[in-house]
Amino acid sequence: TAMTLDAIRADIGDCQRCKLAPTRTNIVFGSGNPAAELAFVGEAPGSDEDLQGLPFVGRAGQLLTKIIESINLTREEVYICNILKCRPPGNRNPEPDEVAACNPFLRRQLATIRPKIVCCLGTFAAHNLLQTTVPISLLRGKFFDLDGMRVIATFHPAYLLRSPDKKREVWEDMKQIRAELSRLQS
Ligand code: URA
Repeated sequence: TAMTLDAIRADIGDCQRCKLAPTRTNIVFGSGNPAAELAFVGEAPGSDEDLQGLPFVGRAGQLLTKIIESINLTREEVYICNILKCRPPGNRNPEPDEVAACNPFLRRQLATIRPKIVCCLGTFAAHNLLQTTVPISLLRGKFFDLDGMRVIATFHPAYLLRSPDKKREVWEDMKQIRAELSRLQS
C-alpha cells in the first residue's frame, strides 16, 4: 500500500516480529530521497549499520557511495535500504522466517517511493526481489519488470572488496542504469 515512509517506519515501531529483535542495536529502515528515481536494495545491516541505524555506512557502504557517484548521482538523490532491517548476529545469512517478517515493509517502501529503477546489490537481494535462484553472475546487467519498476542486479560492494576484478562488470551495470534513467526521462 502506498503511504508515507514515516508511516511505514511508524508501523515497524520497536519491531519484535522476528528473532533478530533481541540482538539488534538499531532498526535500519533506509535513507535518501523519498522521491528517488533509483533505489538500491542490499541484504541486511552489518555492525556499522546496526550501530548507526543507517544503511551502507561501513566499508562496503563507502564503496557504494563511489559507485553511485560514478554515474553522477549522490547518496542524497537515491534511496538505499535492505531486505532485512535488523542485523543478523555475526552477519550470518538472513533466514527465511526473518525475510518473511521483513519483506512487507520493503514492498511498502518501494510502493511508496515508486522508483523507476531498483538495483539489487548481490545475490540475496536479487533472489528475493526477482523470486529466482539464477546465479547473480547470470542475472546481473539485465533489466526485469516488476510492479512497474525496472529491476537490475549487480554484485554486492562487499564482494567487490574481496574480488576487485569484478568492478568492471559493476561499472557496466551502472552505465546501463544511467542510460535507462535517461531513456525513461526522454
Ligand atoms: N551490507 C548490506 O547488504 N547492507 C548494508 O546496509 C551494509 C552492508
